[in-house]
Amino acid sequence: MTTCLYPGSFDPVTLGHVDIICRAARMFDTVVVGVLHNPEKQGCFSVEKRVDMLKKACRDMKNVEVIAYGGLLAQMTKDMGIRTVVRGVRNVADLENEMTMARINHQLNPDLDTVLLPASPENQEISASMVRQLASFGADLTPFVPPEVLPDVLAAFSK
Ligand code: PNS
Repeated sequence: MTTCLYPGSFDPVTLGHVDIICRAARMFDTVVVGVLHNPEKQGCFSVEKRVDMLKKACRDMKNVEVIAYGGLLAQMTKDMGIRTVVRGVRNVADLENEMTMARINHQLNPDLDTVLLPASPENQEISASMVRQLASFGADLTPFVPPEVLPDVLAAFSK
């Protein structure tokens, strides 16, 4: 059985995230999508809401599970016996950050390796921060957000 962890903030989940999850789900027997804390980002949606939205977006993928974890990624993978992390890469800036994270995570957990998947061309410009900004201005989010979670995102920004 091969299992990977796809970690992220998912604040909120985007079509770019779903694309990476779908592709990982074809490569691994099980994909654990982990909502983790990024200390460099101030959260918009609660962790519970992010998990809920991810579950809705992934409900048709039977080998995908979604959980939240409050600690270090390296510790999470040790605790769960997971040896592969999957991350999406949109551009060179992403690549630099991902290389750094992959090296640090490997240093903290030598059993762990990171697989980087290039974002599909149609998702190359999508980010959760861009979705939040567009939502705050009332823009059409259908090209960026999975249809299953669109009502949740709109509801959060209609207040
Ligand atoms: O979606 P993001 O914000 O790019 O995801 C980054 C995330 C959450 C995967 C990263 O910040 C993380 O791994 N957080 C958990 C704490 C941790 O292990 N930090 C060290 C990373 S080298």
